[in-house]
Amino acid sequence: MSSQAPDARQQRLFFALWPDPAVRMQLARLAESATAGHGRVVSAGNLHITLVFLGGVTAERRACAERAAAEVVGEAFELTLDTLGYFRRSQVAWVAPSRTPPALTGLAAALQNRLAGCGFEPEGRPFTPHLTLARKVRGAPRPVGFAPITWSVSGFSLIESFMLPGGVRYEPLGAWSLTGMEGRGSG
Ligand code: 2AM
Repeated sequence: MSSQAPDARQQRLFFALWPDPAVRMQLARLAESATAGHGRVVSAGNLHITLVFLGGVTAERRACAERAAAEVVGEAFELTLDTLGYFRRSQVAWVAPSRTPPALTGLAAALQNRLAGCGFEPEGRPFTPHLTLARKVRGAPRPVGFAPITWSVSGFSLIESFMLPGGVRYEPLGAWSLTGMEGRGSG
């Protein structure tokens, strides 16, 4: 969403659904089995669903984004990840819900709307929730059978992306609850 070029004073940030450890473990197993031998599997600790990508963000805009997140009102929902797919252009293998809960669509829209007040331009393309399992996948992986993964989503997180010598690492900076009338910052 940001058009600013990253520099040393900026953090590379995005809002995401961040799986709990049990869901994360199931997703990591699926990433291995569904993409075996194809591309670079996303490390278990990095698995997530992006809600809104912010890009390089200054401290001031990060603070505004956190205030925006705290103003988002949304209900918890259940997500069933039951569909494997492949984006040919970005060479990404993913798992996604065949049915997107209205609460998830509403959450992404509400967050984008609030973030517009911080100067983050809304995405031009529609929100298509997916969880990347592997990157640099050259050619659609062979279909595999798998048990759908059910994920009870009760909040969303602000994540920082770090480029390290061993690869990218994502780290949660804060989380907001979806259960009630108010968001709650925790970081
Ligand atoms: P992807 O998994 O579908 O590639 C952190 O980089 C997360 O933000 C990734 O999950 C990635 O989605 C998403 N992302 C990266 N660059 C993006 C961009 N320019 N616009 C939207 N989402 C982006």
